[in-house]
Amino acid sequence: MIPVTKPFLPPQEEFQKYLNGIWQRQWLTNMGPLASQLEMELKDYLKVKHLLFVTNGTIAIQMALKALDIAGEVITTPFSFVATTSTIVWEGCTPVFVDIDPKSLNIDASKIEAAITPKTQAILATHVYGNPCDVEAIAIIAKKHNLKVIYDGAHAFGVEVNGKSVFEYGDVSTCSLHATKLFHSTEGGLIITKDANLLAKLAKIRNFGIAGFESFSQLGINGKNSEFHAAMGLANLKYIKQIVEKRLMLTACYEQNLTSFKARRPLWHKASQNNGAYFALVLESESLLLKVKQALDTSEIFTRRYFYPSLASSLPYVDSVVMPETDAIAKRVLCLPLFYELTEEEVKMICRLLLRIQNN
Ligand SMILES: Cc1ncc(COP(=O)(O)O)c(C=O)c1O
Repeated sequence: MIPVTKPFLPPQEEFQKYLNGIWQRQWLTNMGPLASQLEMELKDYLKVKHLLFVTNGTIAIQMALKALDIAGEVITTPFSFVATTSTIVWEGCTPVFVDIDPKSLNIDASKIEAAITPKTQAILATHVYGNPCDVEAIAIIAKKHNLKVIYDGAHAFGVEVNGKSVFEYGDVSTCSLHATKLFHSTEGGLIITKDANLLAKLAKIRNFGIAGFESFSQLGINGKNSEFHAAMGLANLKYIKQIVEKRLMLTACYEQNLTSFKARRPLWHKASQNNGAYFALVLESESLLLKVKQALDTSEIFTRRYFYPSLASSLPYVDSVVMPETDAIAKRVLCLPLFYELTEEEVKMICRLLLRIQNN
């Protein structure tokens, strides 16, 4: 059996060392020493000015919307994980969908202005599969219309664009450190901003809005993460270069062996490089996708229709909107297995199967 993804686990004795420290200190959560250490090491690794380690990538987006006082319409992408839209609704805002660019699969920046109304307050866009959005165009639009920009960078760990971290674009970026992600802390998330004042506000929001002993500065939430999760993050971070290298090697192997497969890869931002988070293909047709998926399922090789269906037409709490590009792409997108333990031989075998199914 080959799953679509499998979490990386560090050598158990290395994780145990962190656990020993936790047992000695008996400090389990609430911004403990391991959580602070992870924040420092991640700041260095990602080359960002400020970040906070939080509960998960979903809470990170909610906190961003709250910290920026977003209350009206939020322009967003229909081609993302449900959390990108659900957080907007959870925060009492209204998602306004803008269709994607069928090449990059990210929000189409050239269609954003047409969706702006007097109620628009922010743009919340996803760097799909880690592929940076058109951050330059979005910055120009945001400045012109006085909008805040939040990037859902759940997939974009370690991605750079124009030589700097993709997380440094926009007002706030978020990341998911969920077990299925390129880099994980079991459950976890990051919130990144260049603005020190905003960081201070976010830090309070993370801790119930507590401003000091017996005082509250604002509405907050429990966005903290634990020492156990930080320990997993610290243990994994030591392997991140190796993890990325292996996944990029497997990615290249897929690409070399699928040149005659009737599918294309998302077009990556020209000033950036793949981080190996996902191996997604846009197949020629939905019928080919269904044929391939079913045949691979039978061989116990699991793939994922990520993202399908469009968020603009599948959520019971959002008015359904037709998004022609997203609707067409979502039907044809398939993510193939990609994880650290996957071997080159397994990738070649998957490619052979794909070609055989296509030609049958
Ligand atoms: C694009 C996107 N946004 C947000 C999330 C939510 O992250 P988390 O699972 O850490 O809450 C995910 C998680 O899969 C995601 O893929």
